[in-house]
Parts: sequence; C-alpha cells; structure tokens
Amino acid sequence: MGWLCLLFLLFTACQFNSTCSSSSNSSSSLSSGHLCHPDDSSALLQFKNSFSIDTSSDWTISSWQKAKDCCAWSGVTCEKLTGHVIGLELGFLRGKIHSNSSLFFLHHLKRLALMENDFEGSPISSKFGGFVNMTHLDLSFSNFSGPIPFQISLLSNMVSLNLRQDAETVATLSLDTLSLNRIVQNLTNLRELQLFGVDMSLVIPDSFKNLSSSLTTLVLFDSQLQGKFPESVFRLPNLRVLNLDFNKNLTGSLPNSNWSSPLETLGLSYTRILVDWHHLTRSLKSLRDLSLSNCTFIGSYLASLGNLTQITSLDLSQNGFGGQIPWSLLNLERLTTLDLSGNNYVGQIPEVESNSTGIASLYDFSKGQLVGPIPRHLSYLSLSENSINGTIPSWLGSLPSLDQLHLGSNQLGGNIVDFQSRSLSFLDLGANKLDGLIPRSIYELVNLGWLDLSSNNLGGNLEFEKFSKLQILGGLNLSFNHLSLSFNHLSNNTWPQLLLLDLSSCNISEFPYFLRASQDLDMLYLSHNRIQADIPKWWLDLGKDSLRYLDLSHNSLTGTVGQLRWKRLQYLDLRNNSLQGDLPIPPPSTYYFFISNNQFTGEMPPTICSLSILRILDLSNNKLSGKIHQCIGNFSQSLSVLDLRNNKFHGVIPGTFSKGNVLRNLNLNGNQLEGSLPRTLLTCTELEVLDLGNNRIQDTFPNWLEFLPKLQVLILRSNKLYGEIGIPETKFPFQKLRIMDLSYNRFSGLLPTKYFEHLTAMINLQEHELKYMGEGYYQDTVIVTIKGFEIEMVKIQTFFTTIDFSNNTFRGAISNVIGKLKSLKGLNFSYNELTGTIPSSFGDMSNLEWLDLSSNRLVGAIPEKLVNLTSLSKFNVSKNRLVGPIPHGKQFDTFENDSYSGNTGLCGLPLSKTCGAHQSPPSSFRQEGDLEHGNGFDWKVVLMGYASGVVIGISVGYLVLPNGTPDWLVKVVGRKQRRRTVEITQRRA
Ligand SMILES: *[C@@H]1O[C@H](CO)[C@@H](O)[C@H](O)[C@H]1NC(C)=O
Ligand SMILES: *[C@@H]1O[C@H](CO)[C@@H](O)[C@H](O)[C@H]1NC(C)=O
Repeated sequence: MGWLCLLFLLFTACQFNSTCSSSSNSSSSLSSGHLCHPDDSSALLQFKNSFSIDTSSDWTISSWQKAKDCCAWSGVTCEKLTGHVIGLELGFLRGKIHSNSSLFFLHHLKRLALMENDFEGSPISSKFGGFVNMTHLDLSFSNFSGPIPFQISLLSNMVSLNLRQDAETVATLSLDTLSLNRIVQNLTNLRELQLFGVDMSLVIPDSFKNLSSSLTTLVLFDSQLQGKFPESVFRLPNLRVLNLDFNKNLTGSLPNSNWSSPLETLGLSYTRILVDWHHLTRSLKSLRDLSLSNCTFIGSYLASLGNLTQITSLDLSQNGFGGQIPWSLLNLERLTTLDLSGNNYVGQIPEVESNSTGIASLYDFSKGQLVGPIPRHLSYLSLSENSINGTIPSWLGSLPSLDQLHLGSNQLGGNIVDFQSRSLSFLDLGANKLDGLIPRSIYELVNLGWLDLSSNNLGGNLEFEKFSKLQILGGLNLSFNHLSLSFNHLSNNTWPQLLLLDLSSCNISEFPYFLRASQDLDMLYLSHNRIQADIPKWWLDLGKDSLRYLDLSHNSLTGTVGQLRWKRLQYLDLRNNSLQGDLPIPPPSTYYFFISNNQFTGEMPPTICSLSILRILDLSNNKLSGKIHQCIGNFSQSLSVLDLRNNKFHGVIPGTFSKGNVLRNLNLNGNQLEGSLPRTLLTCTELEVLDLGNNRIQDTFPNWLEFLPKLQVLILRSNKLYGEIGIPETKFPFQKLRIMDLSYNRFSGLLPTKYFEHLTAMINLQEHELKYMGEGYYQDTVIVTIKGFEIEMVKIQTFFTTIDFSNNTFRGAISNVIGKLKSLKGLNFSYNELTGTIPSSFGDMSNLEWLDLSSNRLVGAIPEKLVNLTSLSKFNVSKNRLVGPIPHGKQFDTFENDSYSGNTGLCGLPLSKTCGAHQSPPSSFRQEGDLEHGNGFDWKVVLMGYASGVVIGISVGYLVLPNGTPDWLVKVVGRKQRRRTVEITQRRA
C-alpha cells in the first residue's frame, strides 16, 4: 500500500496544503514614497517576457503592465526611499533562467522566492552570487539542476537559504564538499538551511560541523549523505529543526553527555544514526515533532516516551516493534499525530468504558488495564501494517478532529463503525477482515479525499451514486470484497478530482460512464469483473492526457481494441479477456504491457519497436503469428520479461540481444520457432528463466549457456535438439540451475555425469521458505511435468528443483554421482536406453518426491535404501529388467502395481508374485513390523510419511488440481482414507 500513500501525499500537497497553490500575497504596494525605479521596472518586464506563464493559476505575473508602478505589482516589494525592488516572489513560471537574465539586474534584492516554478533544468547561475544584500533565497521545487555554484557563499548576509528539490524530478541539484565548506564558513548569519533532495553524495558530512551557531533550521532530507554525521550539529545552541530523514548511509549517534538542546523537530528516519532513547528523551525537553521511522535504537522507548511532554507528532513506523501497542502514548497530552505502522504489534485497540461517575475513558481489555482519557485532539493515527485484531472501536469514529486514519493491513474484523468525524480526509481500512455493509455514515464524510476499503469481506449491493456527496474524492479503492456495484442513476454525478479508482472484483458489468468527467485520472483498476462488452469509443479518450495505470484484466471484453490514445500510459493490463483483431500497441511511455490470454491475431506490428523502455512484455496465449520482431532484442536494455509463449510465431529466435541487457525471463514456449539457438543469448547475463520448449529448434545442446551465472530454469522440451550433452567447459557450470527439462528431443550418448557433479543449486539443500521467482507485477510461469502430470506452475517456488531427460536416447549407466543432488524433488529418466543398476545413492536424495526410471534397460534389484525417501510419492520403474524383492516400509507401502509392471524378475507386494524363501524382505520391513497388520499396510504410517515430507509439497500448492485436492493423493490414499486426506489438504490450504 506504499504507493497509495505516496500518491496521497502528492494529492494532499495539492489539495489541502498551501504549498502547492501558494497564493499568499506578500506584495506590499506602497501608497506613499517613491515609484518604482525605471531600471528595475524594465528588468522585471524583460524577466516576465522570458517565460510562458501558466494562466490557469490565479497567482500570475500576467498582470504586470508597463503603465503601472511596478512597486504595486503582485509579488514585488520595493524599498521605500529608493524605489528599488528588494523583494520578489513568483511561482508558476515555465522556461529557462539563463545567466544573462534580467533578474540579475535587480542588484538590490534582499528576498527572492522562486518556488514552484519549472525552470526546465536550468543551472543555478553563479550570478546569484551577485545579490550582495540578499538575506532570503528560496529556489525550492523549481526544477533547477546541476551543481550549486560556490558563489552562493558570497551572499554573506544570508539568513535563509532554501534549495529544496522535488524528489520526483530526474535532473537534480548537487553540492560538493568544497562549495559546502565555503557556504558554511562564510554565511555566518545563516539561520535556515534547507537542502532537501540535493544530491550530496560527494559531501563529507563533517563539513556541517562549521555551521553558524545562529542556525535554527537544518533540513537535509533525502540528500544521499554518507558517512558519519558530526555530533556537534546536535549541540548547536539555537537549532530547533533538524531533519536528516532518508539518508540511508548516514551514520553517527546522538551526544550522550552534557547535551541539552532546544530541538523541537528531529527527523532521523531511514538513517543509520544510533538513537539512544535515554539520551534523547532526557536532553530534548522541547521536542514536538519526532520522526524515527526505520531506525536503530538503544534502550527501550517504553520507559522514556513519557518524558516527551511537548510532543505533538511521533513517527515510530517500520521499526519491527512487537508485542502490544504502548497505548499509554495516547496519554501524551499534546499528541495529535501518531504513526506506528509497519511494526509487529498485536492485540486489540482499547475500548471506551465509563466509570461509576460516568466519565468515559479507554480500557485495554487484552491487558485488563485502564489506558486513559479519549485522545480527542488526535488528528492523524496510523496503525497500518501490523497484526492488530479485534474490532474497530466506536470512539475512533467520533474523534472530533480526526483527519487521517490508517488501519490497513491488519486483522481487524467485525463491522465498520460509524464515522462521524466530518474532518476526516483519509480513511484506510483496506486488507483487513471487516464484514457487513459499508455504513451509511461513510457517504456523509464530505471532506474525504481518500477511501480504501479494499480486500475485506464487505458485502451487499452498492449503487455508486451513494458516493455522490464525496465530491473531493481523489482516491477510492473498493476492490476485492464481496460487493456488487452498479452505476444506475449516475447521469449527473461526477467526481472531477479522482486520481485513483480501484473497483477490481466488484461484480461490475458495465464501463463506468461517469468517469468521463474525471480529467486527471491517474490509475484505474477494473480487473476481475463481469464486463462483457466491446471497449466503447469514449473509453479510449478517458484520461487521455493523465492516465498512467489501466487494468481491465480478467473480464470478458470482446471486439477489437483499435488505436490507443493514452499519452502517459505506463502500465496496461488487458489479460484474460476475449479481445481479438490486431495487437494494439500502447504509447512509448509504457513500462508494463500485459495482453496475454486473448484472441489477438496477425503479426507483431512494427510500432512495437517504439516501446523502447518496456520492462515486461507479455503477449502469451494469443494467436499471434509471423516472425518475432528483431527489434525486441534491441530494447532489452530495459526489458526484463519477454513472454511470447503459446502463439504461432515462426522463423528464428531474434539474435539481436546485446551486451548490458537485463533480460531475466525469455519464454517462447509453444510456438513454431526453428533454426538454431542464437549465441547472442550469452549476452543475457541476467537471465534466470529460459523456456524454449515445444518449438522446432534444431541444434545441439547449448553447453555455452552454462556461462550464464543466474540461469535457474532451462526448458528445451520437445524440440529437435540432438547429439551428446558433452562435458562442462567451466568449473561451475549452471550453478544456479534448478529446473532442467530436455525431454522429448533427440539427445543421445551418455548421461552428462560431469554436469550433475556441479549443479550446485540442486546439490545444496535450499531453505524451505515460501518464495516465488518473479518480480512485482510478474510471476514467472512454466509448464513442468510433475509426477507424470503436465502442470502449469503459475509461480515458480525458489526451492523447486527437477530434472527431466525423458524421451531421448541416452544410454549407458546412471552414475552414483546423482545421489549428490540432495535438493532434487523430481527426476525423470524414462524412455531412454539406460543400462546398469539403479545406484543405491538415489536413497540420499532426501527431497525426492517423484522418480521415474521406466522404459529403460535397467537391471539388478531396487536398492533397499530407497525406503529412506520419505517424501517419495510417485515411483515408476516399470518396463525394465529389474529383479528381486520390492522394498517395503514407509512410502513403498503406497506404490501400486503399475510402478513395477513389465519387470518379470520383481516379486513381493504389491505384485501378486511372491518372493522365494531365499529372497527375504528388507530389514526396514521388520523393524516397523509392529506397526503393521493384516495385509501389511498401515494407513497411519502412510499418512505419517506424507506428514513428514509430501505435505510440504501440498502446502505450497504446486500440486493442487482445480478441485483443490492433489490428484495423486486421492488416488493413492483416497479410497480408504478420504476424509483424513481431505483434512490434511484443507489444513494446509
Ligand atoms: C547593501 O546594503 C548596504 C547597507 O544597507 C547599502 O549601503 C548598499 O547600497 C546595498 N547594496 C545594494 C546593491 O543594494
Ligand atoms: C565571503 O564573503 C565575502 C564577502 O562578504 C567575500 O569577499 C569572500 O570571498 C567570501 N569567502 C568565500 C570563501 O566565499
């Protein structure tokens, strides 16, 4: 939910803050005194004419006219006696400021405020050093770039220097140590220094040691500072505001003796500065605003925080704090803002209880403790991303000045309480377990700018009209509940300020027509609905100049798409619909393009070559034909996933991959590609998944791929590959490889024992941590054969390992070396011409879940040691020349006849052929004899076997078939123990 908040920050900055639409008018026209100096007047007019002016804002210099006295112009301040311009405050300008700008003719300027402009990356001219009497310089958020000139240090009268940067802009300002040293040494009157967002990665933080002792404000937020921050800055006698937030490599610590500071605002979030609670709370008695998100601490906050009696704003988010929330914080008398999000807090939110005298106070029922009075002054509370359970207490809904409430990503249940705080502008209850209907009171919150109720169990039919009073809604997320949303009666209602609308999985059956009026729409998600229609013409103009994210996936959209007109689109998801016709191509601004599982036909249009910053291209499961455009290899400087599987592409694989590409997944499975494998694949050093299965590629085994250091999945299944695998050329070939499928080809010769010896990822046991391959928006998908079933792994677990060499003509013996592959889950050598015996080292592959050696020419006995494979659930050695008794015990009591058929020499259960007296059963059979009875089976043992190993397989879900039950488990165990089996599966689900 991080992006949501970020977006909201931007949104609030413009909606509620004065900074964005700062129209505070500081011009002071003088009724008496001199008129404006003519030199200054003409300099100002010249300056005005060098810009294009954003006329949509009311704050503008367009009213400046020659005839009038320039001292009366808005934004201009003059000196009484001389008529010289000494103050200038301007915003909303667009254009460059060159060093010959007439601005620099205004020598007498003392205060210059040029914030919120777009100077298009102009450098800050050294001419700024010419304003000898300058006391206040504010160039914040104005899109300057390049180095800050050292000439700023000539402004020795400077009191306030503000060079804040917008973190979003690409071009940034930078400052080096030399210039900083000059500024610090020469500006002895400096009280405010704000270098927010200025790149100071080259600055030695020690330079700040020499800052003027008159300094009251130092803001170095997100400045890429690294190294040790000088302790002496904390000791500056007049410092009231110190913000070092988001300098992730800044180290140091707070002073630990003789420290007493008037600091009121302290921000150390996301730095590596050690925070000693004891020193902090003892020395900073005036602290009002404390921001310690993601910090490193010494001591316990619980004992100390009570000392911060002046605190109004406290941010302790993202610190991994656990246990109960220290509710006593709510007793801090002046606290209005509290952020405890992103910790591991558990327990419930305290409830109101009235005592005998009728005074309501908060009571923590989980601890059985009185908390204190209701914190009526609270205006911002964030407890999101914790594990808080219970219900939302009603007092939270009636706090008189509550502005923002963040409770998302917890375990809160029950109904949503009535929210009566009309002041509420942000309400996030998403990703909880809330149920019932959306309470009526929500629709009365006329100041609501953001509402997130997503991913709960809210139900009911909901007419969107109900939101009609929430006219300033900027973001609304109702996705993934059990709501049925309809848009009837919406003819006149619009939400002009909407930036984000997420109505995924809301049972919607039509395109929301009212969105036409939302001119600034930025993100729109309507996936997983029931929209069964052609995309209407008007839709393509929706947010034409603003829309960046559009998700219409998982609907039943029909018809053709036509030309896309969204100019700023970055993310387009049309997956899983029934769209047809030519493949639409989004604008060149697109990063993510998903259009898989549709019916698109025809060839890749050449316009696809314009998508040069694409990161993910997923065209899989369509009916596209023709050749794969060579240009696709060219834009791999940004492309990380190219998924074209299951189309009808023919021709050769593009050979245009070049050095420095970042391709991570290349999936061309299920096409009609031919020719040989291009050697330029070797430039894909980031490649993790290479799936070229089910094509017509004709080549020898690509040994050279062993150089790819990150390759984890290699699928060459069902092609026309031939010849021997050979031996490795490097010391660590395929060291990350976990899935290797060479089946259904024409490979021959001996098994590649030398490779097996070095498959490090299969040799070393992996942590069984549930992780999947892929990234943010995209999960790697491949089809693998597991236990004889072709299964599409929608997600690839990072510990899934398998080798499939079946259906080739490999010959010779299986080496003992194979037993080294301890993390292997599946091994299939079936349908080859292998000879010799089954190595007993197979018994060492303790993770093995399926083993298929059928249809070879193997001889000898089945090694007893295989009984050790407690995870084995599918075993097939049929159609060989094996002899002797079948091992018994553990998993071997679950295999049936067809595992062994076609080996005339095998005997013992489950085969009907009994073994002769000399063929005694394996010893493990006897050891566990006490558990057995009757026909030699004990289901408890079987189930224990599953519990120890196989259930891990179930738990992570790669085997669960559509009906939710693992097919093989039902087959083996189900007939007798169905209920028990289902229990196991369900518990894991
Ligand atoms: C700067 O201030 C001094 C002292 O007030 C004054 O004499 C001088 O003229 C000013 N210079 C300019 C360029 O305004
Ligand atoms: C400091 O300011 C004075 C003018 O007040 C100037 O002459 C001098 O060069 C400056 N020093 C540095 C190091 O910039």
